[in-house]
Amino acid sequence: MPAVTSPVKVTNDGDGSNLEQASAKRIKLSLEALGTQIDAIASGFLGLPIKGDLFAMIFKFIADNRAEERSSFKKKLQSHTYELLKTIKRQFEPEPDANFKLVDDHTKFFHFLLSVQAKTASDVTAADIIKPKPKRDDLSFSPVPGVQGLMNTREDEDQSSEKNFKEEVEVVNTFLEIAIALFDLLEHNEKPVYFESKNQKEAIASLFEKHFAEGRVPEPLENFDDFEKDDTISNMAFYGIGQNFLKKATGKEGKIAYEVDTTVLSGLETRSGCEMYGANAFFGEDRKLMEIHVSSMDKIIKPGDKEWMHAKWVWRVSLVTLVTLGNHLMKTHWTVANTAHIAARTKLNDDHPIRQVMKVFLYGTGAVNNIANILLAQDKGLLHRMTGFTYKGFSSTLSLLFEDFKYETLPEMVASKKLSKEMEKQIPLCTDGLPVWDAFLKFFESYVGFFYPDESNITTDVELRRFWLNVDLKGEFNARQPYGLPQLSKKALVEYLTHLAFTVTAGHELNGTIVQYLMSPKAAAIKLRPGKDEADIQTFVQDLVLIGLTGAPRPKLNEDWLHLLPNKSEVKTMYANLKTDLKEVSAKVDKANEAVPSSGRPKICQSFNPKHFETSVSI
Ligand SMILES: [Fe+2]
Repeated sequence: MPAVTSPVKVTNDGDGSNLEQASAKRIKLSLEALGTQIDAIASGFLGLPIKGDLFAMIFKFIADNRAEERSSFKKKLQSHTYELLKTIKRQFEPEPDANFKLVDDHTKFFHFLLSVQAKTASDVTAADIIKPKPKRDDLSFSPVPGVQGLMNTREDEDQSSEKNFKEEVEVVNTFLEIAIALFDLLEHNEKPVYFESKNQKEAIASLFEKHFAEGRVPEPLENFDDFEKDDTISNMAFYGIGQNFLKKATGKEGKIAYEVDTTVLSGLETRSGCEMYGANAFFGEDRKLMEIHVSSMDKIIKPGDKEWMHAKWVWRVSLVTLVTLGNHLMKTHWTVANTAHIAARTKLNDDHPIRQVMKVFLYGTGAVNNIANILLAQDKGLLHRMTGFTYKGFSSTLSLLFEDFKYETLPEMVASKKLSKEMEKQIPLCTDGLPVWDAFLKFFESYVGFFYPDESNITTDVELRRFWLNVDLKGEFNARQPYGLPQLSKKALVEYLTHLAFTVTAGHELNGTIVQYLMSPKAAAIKLRPGKDEADIQTFVQDLVLIGLTGAPRPKLNEDWLHLLPNKSEVKTMYANLKTDLKEVSAKVDKANEAVPSSGRPKICQSFNPKHFETSVSI
């Protein structure tokens, strides 16, 4: 497993004074080298008033190889930053809403990050995406704790400057390490407090208006009505994120035709006061909700049973949790995008046509995946605290989801569901998603066909073979399960590129744009408590903060990114055709949505509408 590297190596020759001198010299040089970049890095870090002396400390920390010294520096750095944080704590929210006051400092800290992000966000367009940089064999990586063989790059070619690349990477990552330490130092309060039932709508509106307005949380593109209705469960299963898991019900007879099973989460350790996840909802061919098996109760609950409301809540929460941790974070970000990002940057040079065509789909991937690891997935990171898992349960879940990944094409995935032909004509994954898949497939067939006219051109491309192996071994970090790629061929390459493009655009839209499930504490959440069918105030706030932090606008796929592709007239034509094909899909989806409610489409679905796609998982 590669070590996390430091750019400045000081040989420990046993002479303490030489070491000190060398270290001081390096620090001075590093500070001088970064120059005005320091201000930019500092203002990007939590909005804290950071002074030069903190940078000197950071470089000292980076430069020192001695474990004892590093640990003492780290403590000093952490307490220094915590003091800084305390001085601005009142900035967290100067005039909080009465319910917002009830959340702990840890939650307020992440809300503060959201407000800094919203204030400093700049409009990035596809025109700003730079061409690939030369391949590197010196990238440094950070492990995701508890997940064997999963590493993220510690930097991003789109965000790190060429000049002083390594110094900048080390400083930014040291800042992030300091941020992790803050998670422990801040106040945590797990005791749940709920919105009062009287005037609940007004109380929620007031909290939202005061703390989540002005672009902090994206506007939903579609809505569900009353979440507590049986029909809403059905709409989530057939027209929402449930489509990920919708399949023919196994071992059931009579009217039950389909199921949406989240019981993979059952048995994973939760904190005291939290309920175990996991529920399987069963539906008729007419999409009617029939019954729900709840893991924590180990029984089937039916409409009319006294636990019916709770069973529906357990299913909604388990589904949103599984999609967020599994389909969004682990599959889309950390497996598909991360693996492609590492393999492309370490195995394919900047002039390689496959590296060039992948670039638009990998924009910003390194930065977002590294930040997700540090701010969300560490012990007491935001995502861990939003769930009901112990950290052991949280890590086991991530590990399980990493190893559960299955490489397949969209048509293969649809076939494995064993839906009736009638149902395939109705659900948006098929009616809208398959045409998106086909548009990407057609583009990559023409692109790969142009650069590799014969099959033999593929097999003799040494860089491409190394890339393919690296993807299959998930970056070559000793993962327990391979990616599952077939042998490299023209067809296999076309399908892999289609899978990458589809997953980071349409897949990210389906699984990452989920604000509509979290706008009310009664809609869904990522935490369950026994006997309660709604989120507590703190969990509700944490969910909105996550949605805000991961929902800022990014470059759209329908913008112009032709500059990233090889400058050939044939490629320009292929690009134009792809744009036309996606536009046609979009028009078709718009038309279907305009006709809602219709017999085949009772609610609007925007998840596979190309006009909403972003180019990559850059947030
Ligand atoms: Fe995302």
